[in-house]
Amino acid sequence: MIKRPKGTLDILPEDVAKWRFVQDKFRDICRRFDYKEIRTPVFEYTELFQRGVGDTTDVVQKEMYTFSDKGDRSITLRPEGTAGAARAFLEDGIYAKSPINKLYYDITCYRHEKPQAGRLREFHQLGIEAYGAKGPGIDAEIISLAALFLKELSVKNITININSIGCPVCRKAYNEKLREYLSAYKDELCETCLGRLEKNPLRVLDCKSPICGKIGEGAPRLIDYICDECSNHFEGVKSSLTDLGIEYNIDPSIVRGLDYYTKTVFEIKANSAIGAQNTVCGGGRYDGLVEIIGGDPTPGIGFAMGIERLLMVMEEENAPLPEENGPDIFIAHMGEAAEKEAFKIAHELRAKGISVSSELLGRSVKAQMKYADKIGAEYSVVLGDNEIETGKANVKNMKTGEQTELALSGLSEFLLK
Ligand code: HAM
Repeated sequence: MIKRPKGTLDILPEDVAKWRFVQDKFRDICRRFDYKEIRTPVFEYTELFQRGVGDTTDVVQKEMYTFSDKGDRSITLRPEGTAGAARAFLEDGIYAKSPINKLYYDITCYRHEKPQAGRLREFHQLGIEAYGAKGPGIDAEIISLAALFLKELSVKNITININSIGCPVCRKAYNEKLREYLSAYKDELCETCLGRLEKNPLRVLDCKSPICGKIGEGAPRLIDYICDECSNHFEGVKSSLTDLGIEYNIDPSIVRGLDYYTKTVFEIKANSAIGAQNTVCGGGRYDGLVEIIGGDPTPGIGFAMGIERLLMVMEEENAPLPEENGPDIFIAHMGEAAEKEAFKIAHELRAKGISVSSELLGRSVKAQMKYADKIGAEYSVVLGDNEIETGKANVKNMKTGEQTELALSGLSEFLLK
């Protein structure tokens, strides 16, 4: 038997209602905040991620699904949504349409990571990206969007952690300090981090190797080195969050694993533990990204949430999740004439917007009714020679057992009511 690739999931019909519930809620929240959906390709040219996400990040160095296509171009399955959205923002001239553009997406992403609960190789992200706004107001707006979304999903036990990782100006001074600190541990750092030491020492701080992680714990903190402008911006974010009544925690250890971030970064953690993978949301500002991929300097900020992690947390917290509905009616039938009529009626009802399941396996009426109950049909009706002759039948409410005698021609009216 051929199995699905490691780190992927099949989302089964009985679970799809839960997924749709979360996705629909996100779409609705984005509508209320006036964000518009964008859909970009699943694959992009590899250099987009090398330049955008950064070629010293774990994602680019270790985790991308990269291959050469038939034209010998290097292609990568998107490991995240920000770089593709920024490319579209630039390539499709979205920037020229409005001074501010607020976008959202609901996508699959691909990272070759070691699979475990909450960490997959194909996973789903709900994300937003806002371009054009420089001030701290938008930082607070998107954090409030994430918080309201989680609240409306009844995810209560969360912590919003924020930090500032400064701009290229303050980062320069900090990098020197960090390099100095890390150089004392040259013998212990992993090989990848040794390479990062010169090029991009900040990346050592989010290395997944436990030894590098331990070394990182004692490192100087970026927030202690940020310039006045970054510091004022961060103060603005904090006071806007307080104005909105959003509780947050300052966590100087957040550096995020992607290179494009500047100033505000944040992560939302679920306190109902799902092992190590308890970060349901990650995001931040990336004022340099559009320029890095060839556009004019443009402020940008966004976040993404993993749907798989979100659903795990919701289940963990016993948050209400819907079940898949059964059909409005199941039409059981006995005999050839009734079968023909059942098919005709089913077709007519479906055309009027009613969901109908009808017997297709030629089972006994008893077995058909048992099946109608199992699939959660709201009503059922049995058609036999008698019903065809009289044009009348008993419609049964499957929950209460109540029966109503009806003309078959009045069935749709009854069900629609
Ligand atoms: P990220 O922190 O790499 O950020 O991912 C965001 C979220 O995606 C994580 O918090 C997690 O819920 C989910 N996630 C990431 N990797 C996996 C995985 N292997 N399996 C399951 N879920 C996963 C980004 O991707 C940025 N693009 C977010 C952003 C948007 N920043 C600004 N705009």
